[in-house]
Amino acid sequence: MEFVQLKGLAQKASRLCMGGCPAGEYGWGHVSRQEVEAAILHAVDLGVNFFDTADTYGLGRSEETLGEVLRGRREKVILATKFGVRMEQGRTFYDNSPTYIDSALKASLARMRTDYIDLYQVHYLDGVTPISQMMETLLKHKRQGAIRGIGLSNINPADLPAFKPYASELAGFQNHYSLAHRNDEVSILQIAETLDIIPMTWGSLGQGILTGKYGKNVSFESDDRRSRPVYDNFYGEKLEKNLRIVETMESMAEKYKVPVSSVAIRWILETLPHSVVITGVKSPGQIEDNAKAFSFALSPEERAELNIRSR
Ligand SMILES: NC(=O)c1ccc[n+]([C@@H]2O[C@H](COP(=O)([O-])OP(=O)(O)OC[C@H]3O[C@@H](n4cnc5c(N)ncnc54)[C@H](OP(=O)(O)O)[C@@H]3O)[C@@H](O)[C@H]2O)c1
Repeated sequence: MEFVQLKGLAQKASRLCMGGCPAGEYGWGHVSRQEVEAAILHAVDLGVNFFDTADTYGLGRSEETLGEVLRGRREKVILATKFGVRMEQGRTFYDNSPTYIDSALKASLARMRTDYIDLYQVHYLDGVTPISQMMETLLKHKRQGAIRGIGLSNINPADLPAFKPYASELAGFQNHYSLAHRNDEVSILQIAETLDIIPMTWGSLGQGILTGKYGKNVSFESDDRRSRPVYDNFYGEKLEKNLRIVETMESMAEKYKVPVSSVAIRWILETLPHSVVITGVKSPGQIEDNAKAFSFALSPEERAELNIRSR
């Protein structure tokens, strides 16, 4: 395992973070609670100490599962969750208001059965609450000890001037990035450098397409978000391009005797050297495959080939 330091946290974070969206048991097709619990424990065995979730994943279900399974190991792990996506009476909207932060944080702490959250992240900006007001509310909770680090998510360079005065208080940000989604690469580098914070990538496996297990006839049940064409990695020309990237990764995976998913992760680890790669995981086997990204290195030629394929 490799580790990075996120500002404000007492321990270094593993560069592989287990994503807790599937642990919400909602919107990802079949998920076995037993398998997810076993995956969390197996992650710890593999040296993963970083777990990401959000209050919206399964409407709190994911936070509950992570809190429950990791309770006996609380001091050894970094628990990250998010606020800001509010669901009420079937409607979803963004809310970064101080009142909402106060109540969302209290609810997350209760669900995770802990008295502090290592990394509390704003899931999406609501475009209404002044960033200074949101940050002052988060800093109040940090001073009171309920939060140890503050993180951002889904931000873009236009948000930088408002966050710049708080740079020393920010630990990291998570944005969409993978071999299948390099659209925001320049922005990610700019944000990381300007705020001196750690980039964390979500969708790192292209929601599963970069694991090599899906082919051109891929389809999903209606209870799986990927059945919607907005998950464009699985549709049309994007799918064809992704399958060509997979083909390239397959020969590298064969050479290093590792799973294809670990090649996709390795490419991010090497392309963004001070980053954390978040992968959603449903089973112990998946986290084990993903952790193999730390067992080999890509040559400059292989990285270049993947860069060309994914352009
Ligand atoms: N900040 C945000 O707005 C945001 C947004 C999205 C996600 N996230 C975070 O990032 C995490 C990961 O992103 P993501 O969930 O969108 O997608 P991802 O990590 O690209 O893909 C995850 C999916 O790939 C499959 N998979 C994972 N490892 C595998 C392996 N070794 N072999 C075969 N299949 C494997 C699993 O689904 P199947 O087995 O069903 O294929 C898994 O659910 C989330 O859990 C969440 O913590 C954050």
